[in-house]
Amino acid sequence: MTTTSGVLYLFGSAAPPVFDVANVIQDAQTRGFDVCLGLTPTAARWLEPQLVELERLTGHPVRSEYKMPGEPDVWPKADVIAVAPATFNTVNAWALGITRDFVVGVVAEGIGKGIPLVAMPCVNAAYVQHHRFERSVAELRDMGVQVLYGEGGFVPNQPGQGKPKEYPWHLVLDAVQELTGRR
Ligand SMILES: Cc1cc2nc3c(=O)[nH]c(=O)nc-3n(C[C@H](O)[C@H](O)[C@H](O)COP(=O)(O)O)c2cc1C
Repeated sequence: MTTTSGVLYLFGSAAPPVFDVANVIQDAQTRGFDVCLGLTPTAARWLEPQLVELERLTGHPVRSEYKMPGEPDVWPKADVIAVAPATFNTVNAWALGITRDFVVGVVAEGIGKGIPLVAMPCVNAAYVQHHRFERSVAELRDMGVQVLYGEGGFVPNQPGQGKPKEYPWHLVLDAVQELTGRR
């Protein structure tokens, strides 16, 4: 595998499109990225049977927990970070700065470190009526995060009518390439 585009941290939370993450990793690798996979604890539980294979595919440990103090970093430094699928919970935690989860902590710091960040929510039309969601999207955009939501991004489905296979993953990887100047 040649990795010429840089290091992509791909962070998934617990919405059904996360089950396709192996294909997305392969697509990103074809585009030249060295991919490190991070998951929320719930997403890691969903993908538990695949974790060994996902580590083999990426060549890096899959991370869902903070390291212990004094432990070395096991990943190379990120050139770009993509959070997808981003749940209602993860979008709001990120915007509010609630960094209990490892992946949210990394992207919360990523804003201040100037790492290019892209996120694509996966939320239904009921979740988005909660006022916090639109506020979180607006706040993340204000902090420089490219949020692929609405026109040109994810459009919410009705509750119970999600089509995870139609989640537009290609928009995430296209944005990652734009952000790293590889497109
Ligand atoms: C089958 C199933 C599908 C779900 N789909 C979604 C979804 O599309 N979007 C969402 O925001 N939450 C969804 N949830 C709820 C999240 O998994 C739940 O809020 C979880 O706490 C999110 O945690 P995380 O953001 O740390 O991954 C779903 C839950 C289940 C069991």
